[in-house]
Amino acid sequence: MNQPQGILILDFGGQYTQLIARRVRECGVYSSVLPYAADMEAIRQEHPLGIILSGGPASVLDSNAPTICPGVFEMGVPVLGICYGMQLMAHLHGALIERGQQREYGRTLVSMDDMESELLQGMKATNTCWMSHTWQVTKLPSGFKTIAHTPNCPIAAMSNPFRRLYGVQFHPEVTHSEEGMKLLQNFLFNICHASADWTMEAYAERTIDQIREQVGDGTVLLGLSGGVDSAVAAALLYRAIGSRLTCVYVDHGFMRSAESDEVVNIFTKTFPVELKAVDASERFFTALQGVTEPEQKRKIIGREFVDVFKEVSLSLGKRDHFAQGTIYPDVIESGSIKGSAVIKSHHNVGGLPAELGFTSLIEPLRMLFKDEVRQLGLKLGLPKSLVYRQPFPGPGLAIRVIGELTREKVQIVRDSDRILRQEIEAAGIKASQYFTVLTGAKSVGVMGDERTYAYAVAIRAVTTDDFMTADVVRLPWETIDRISARIIGEVSGCNRVLYDVTTKPPASIEWE
Ligand code: XMP
Repeated sequence: MNQPQGILILDFGGQYTQLIARRVRECGVYSSVLPYAADMEAIRQEHPLGIILSGGPASVLDSNAPTICPGVFEMGVPVLGICYGMQLMAHLHGALIERGQQREYGRTLVSMDDMESELLQGMKATNTCWMSHTWQVTKLPSGFKTIAHTPNCPIAAMSNPFRRLYGVQFHPEVTHSEEGMKLLQNFLFNICHASADWTMEAYAERTIDQIREQVGDGTVLLGLSGGVDSAVAAALLYRAIGSRLTCVYVDHGFMRSAESDEVVNIFTKTFPVELKAVDASERFFTALQGVTEPEQKRKIIGREFVDVFKEVSLSLGKRDHFAQGTIYPDVIESGSIKGSAVIKSHHNVGGLPAELGFTSLIEPLRMLFKDEVRQLGLKLGLPKSLVYRQPFPGPGLAIRVIGELTREKVQIVRDSDRILRQEIEAAGIKASQYFTVLTGAKSVGVMGDERTYAYAVAIRAVTTDDFMTADVVRLPWETIDRISARIIGEVSGCNRVLYDVTTKPPASIEWE
């Protein structure tokens, strides 16, 4: 897919890199991310209007500190270095970097010293900003001047307006930085002269045209998972090629209560495409017999999924192209960008397009962040209930039953999950993700006058922005009470309800 001109972010492994990219897009300007080691050819291919060097955990004084092609500063495009990015810019221009007297972490009052600077225009003279650093620039490179300071950091921002190079020690991208967006806007519009034309309407139009061009009068097969990404991808394809799109939905038997019917109903109602729903639950269940190790479960499910998909695809007859709902964080994290680290392997149906003889792979969302995919979904007419669904892991309830899977255990987790969802929705509680887990533990109880020996179900409810870290939702006691009473009363095979109060980290969101 052709990409528009925008801001290129070179990633030094900072925890806020994707946030910088999202903030730029929130200003209406396209942004892309490349690893710091990207070569000049890859950088030029982006045709950037400006470059941002992200933060990162290293020190520029480390012997193998991450660095960039010096040519970046010779391209004639404005560069903004943030935290490590500022220190690297200063270091590569001959400045002195030293350990600060005091580590600055968290909210810090920054005094703006040059209100005329294009970068700081319109900002208040003092501004609460988010700092997180040990090292700092202590002597400016030649041609630069200090434009902001803090009590512990005499050079908190610097500029060389002649060469359009700027650095900030604080993080304008985080919401704790009071006027961070203003500073980013100044960089984008005053310095890079970007225009705010990155909108989901424009994206949809352009992508639909590109799909039409790529597909010609051919046909496309798309794997629909029930999640928002593949649904939005399908919606875009439907707009582009109508009934020449066929969707396949594979039910592995570990979906939530009524979920498969909902996916099929919502989808066929909204988009009258051919949808082939396959119930492969027996096959998945058999393949998972006796398996207890979580990663092993994932692998088997992934493998079975590919096999089922292949069979269905062959039975449908030839389709020319294959489409999937890969989104930008998948692209960044899967290391498919040359030189980037592999953080997690992208859980797609790898190898499938080539194996099945498809002419090409269509990934119409591969430039979008999750929130943008949602906006686009609404624009394309998908119902809110689908667009704002909470994430559900690919392996489904199979990784919410701890240890070996049995039909009884899967049913317990499915039924308790339905009750939890009903009660949280009825109470109007906001949470990013909530579900029940069938812990491996069995314990003694007494129900009626009978001794029981049954499973313990755990409730998990978290809030999070990015699912990388998560806080526990403080559910009201009455809600927990109702959920617990209903689970014990209505779900057979369990006699105890626990509430998981662990944040991420140290725990992960899922139990497996
Ligand atoms: P964790 O458990 O790693 O979960 O804190 C973070 C987010 O990722 C989801 N998750 C998965 N999604 N396949 C998926 O498609 C998986 O194997 C998988 N494991 C975890 C999890 O539900 C949460 O939203």
